[in-house]
Amino acid sequence: EKGGYPHFMLKEIFEEPQVIRNAITGRVKNGKTIIAELESIADKLKTTRNVQVVACGTSYHAGLVFKRFLEEYAALNVEIDVASEFRYRKIKFDEDTIVVAISQSGETADTLEGIRIAKARGATIIAVTNVVGSTISRESHAVVYLNAGPEIGVAATKTYVSQLTVLLLIASYIAQLRGFGDKKLMQIVNEIEGMPTIFESILATSNDLTRELAKEYFDYIHFMYIGRGYGYPSALEGALKLKEISYIHASAYQAGELKHGPIALLDRKFPVFAIVPDDSLKTKTLSNIMETRARDAKVVAICTEGDQAVARIVNSRIEVPKVSEPLYPLVMSPYLQLFAYHVAVMRGHDPDKPRNLAKSVTVE
Ligand code: F6R
Repeated sequence: EKGGYPHFMLKEIFEEPQVIRNAITGRVKNGKTIIAELESIADKLKTTRNVQVVACGTSYHAGLVFKRFLEEYAALNVEIDVASEFRYRKIKFDEDTIVVAISQSGETADTLEGIRIAKARGATIIAVTNVVGSTISRESHAVVYLNAGPEIGVAATKTYVSQLTVLLLIASYIAQLRGFGDKKLMQIVNEIEGMPTIFESILATSNDLTRELAKEYFDYIHFMYIGRGYGYPSALEGALKLKEISYIHASAYQAGELKHGPIALLDRKFPVFAIVPDDSLKTKTLSNIMETRARDAKVVAICTEGDQAVARIVNSRIEVPKVSEPLYPLVMSPYLQLFAYHVAVMRGHDPDKPRNLAKSVTVE
């Protein structure tokens, strides 16, 4: 059932090109996005001024990318919170509020309770989930499915990639509805359509590349992931993958926050994993990397192909293809997942069954 792969996690990462294809099918045409499942609430999406995103763990990280993209391309203010906080806050919901609940399993207890509260107070609920007929899908007004196929590995991998794809398409659809379907957005939608091919070429080399990198770093006991803008969710997700399957302590910070405390931790035994695509915030992140080097920390960077400015100042690097800014979280995912995978295997752990974790968190 593992199709010749040693672990489900690896098999599922290699399914990512297909998973993106499934997420796109029937939803993209000539630079435009069509989300049929949302047509019944299109009028609400056109006029709403209050969008709330709720999710846990990896799904929350996908939500952070969604929030930023909606703000940038649909000129919408978006709030986001992890479900275990969201449900206990005094949020004002009304007929105008749209709640987007992101849950791979569709069964996460806190996320479910969050949407129940919002629904009872009049909000419209959109669920983004992989599991047809799941509790969250049944209790929402509209459901957009990932169609990623079952995920067996406990750590979310292919479903994260799928969530990012679907959420970018949903956000593009909302932007179009609100009159922002301009050339820039159309270019991004076209690029999303090309993602399966890009992922195929990434996966042709990323496994060997990340295994080599893991050999250098698997023995450290700490890691600090840093990033800015769209890079910050990638830092969070990279750190989460590493800690949950390799049991190495990893934290993630917005690169600009380093000097407000966390930099005190760094020394030659505390490496940094820098998310530094060639985007509008790159030069800022580069200066943060310099600050970490001044503390003797080793730095691994994930950056854009051929970026000499990064190459000059880091110890090791992974290069990803050049894409539009909001798409870096997508193309960086397989590398971050594979790095965590190889580190876990080298440390003698089974990445499919991390200790203390369950695939579906149905208790609060
Ligand atoms: C991490 C992971 C968890 C889940 C979280 C939410 O690899 O799998 O952090 O993302 O438990 O689960 P869903 O998306 O099913 O609500």
